Amino acid sequence: MEKREELQKEKKKWLEEVYGKICVKMRAECSRVGDRIPYIPVNGRYEEDYAQKDVFWWTNGFWSGMMWQMYHATGEEKYRLAAEGVEAKMDAAFANIGRLYHDVGFMWLHTAVADYRLTGNPKSRERGENAANVLAARFNPLGNFIRAWNGDNNIGWMIIDCMMNLPLLYWMSEESKDPRFKAIAQLHADTAMELLVRPDGSCNHIGILDPMTGELLEAPGGQGYGENSSWSRGQSWALYGFALSYRHTGEIKYLDAAKRVAHYFIANAAMTDYLPLCDFRAPQDPVYYDSTAGACAACGLLEIAGFVPEHEKKLYEDSAYRILRAMEGEFANWDENQDAILEMGKAAYHGNDGQEAIIYGDYFFIEAILRMLDKGCFLW
Ligand code: GLY
Repeated sequence: MEKREELQKEKKKWLEEVYGKICVKMRAECSRVGDRIPYIPVNGRYEEDYAQKDVFWWTNGFWSGMMWQMYHATGEEKYRLAAEGVEAKMDAAFANIGRLYHDVGFMWLHTAVADYRLTGNPKSRERGENAANVLAARFNPLGNFIRAWNGDNNIGWMIIDCMMNLPLLYWMSEESKDPRFKAIAQLHADTAMELLVRPDGSCNHIGILDPMTGELLEAPGGQGYGENSSWSRGQSWALYGFALSYRHTGEIKYLDAAKRVAHYFIANAAMTDYLPLCDFRAPQDPVYYDSTAGACAACGLLEIAGFVPEHEKKLYEDSAYRILRAMEGEFANWDENQDAILEMGKAAYHGNDGQEAIIYGDYFFIEAILRMLDKGCFLW
């Protein structure tokens, strides 16, 4: 057998094994967690419910996203019920929209918009529309960017993460035929490309802009090691986010930006056996990984693979596979009595020496595996 064929066979076998393990683990987790909204497990269990703890928290959509992915792949009703429960609980956040920020994309794309896409529920469409209006209203037309967070001290702040919120605006324009939402998304993407993506394909996490002119004043390290470093989850937000902007607009400049970041990400991940570090430009010691960055980057690489000619696909597909396989081998916890699959995530480089499973790591891991098996649903 040709070497390539052998590799493809091995990959298929691995994917099917991992899918089997995901099904066992998610069935057990869904029975324990139901429609609570989890974030980080404590002693192997998701004890907290963010519907109570912080309904405005940016990661509140990911559990629902996992539930919709599993419902789509297996047809098992319990996943749909859990996702619907989360979506309804999140209505409490709309009661105080002043507390919402740009992450309404992360929060409602995988709850209401996913529900609407899969079931056509009109109430879910309304929720998606409310979220899109909140996001569009954060646009600063003087600087052509979407403001990230609230508070008097960050009026001119934009962050690379917002690339993953833009699909909410693209969806709204596609759905309503109102071009304003897509126009805002593109203006923001153009500014991010100019101010946050560096010429070598690495990215800034944060851009502090003059809110009256859009001039870039500072680019602090944010959740990465420091100024001019390279926070890997930020790189993965850019990688996948620009690929998604290409999907929704057909503008080749976004695919080129996604590729530039992808090549940088692949080269750096290869240096540590495809287990991505938390920051690609941090000192050698201590070693912090971030499995969540690897999982999101893998999804972005698979997205790019869908848009390039046949002879280019291999780079993106094989790199996604290498990252997922390496992380599964080193970081996956398949004990069905414990919650969370991918360990060794890192919310931020500073502030805590630990490494932990984080809900979005599992979302992107599941999305990537299902996509490689043609069992996934598109939620961006
Ligand atoms: N969007 C915040 C983070 O990636 O941690």
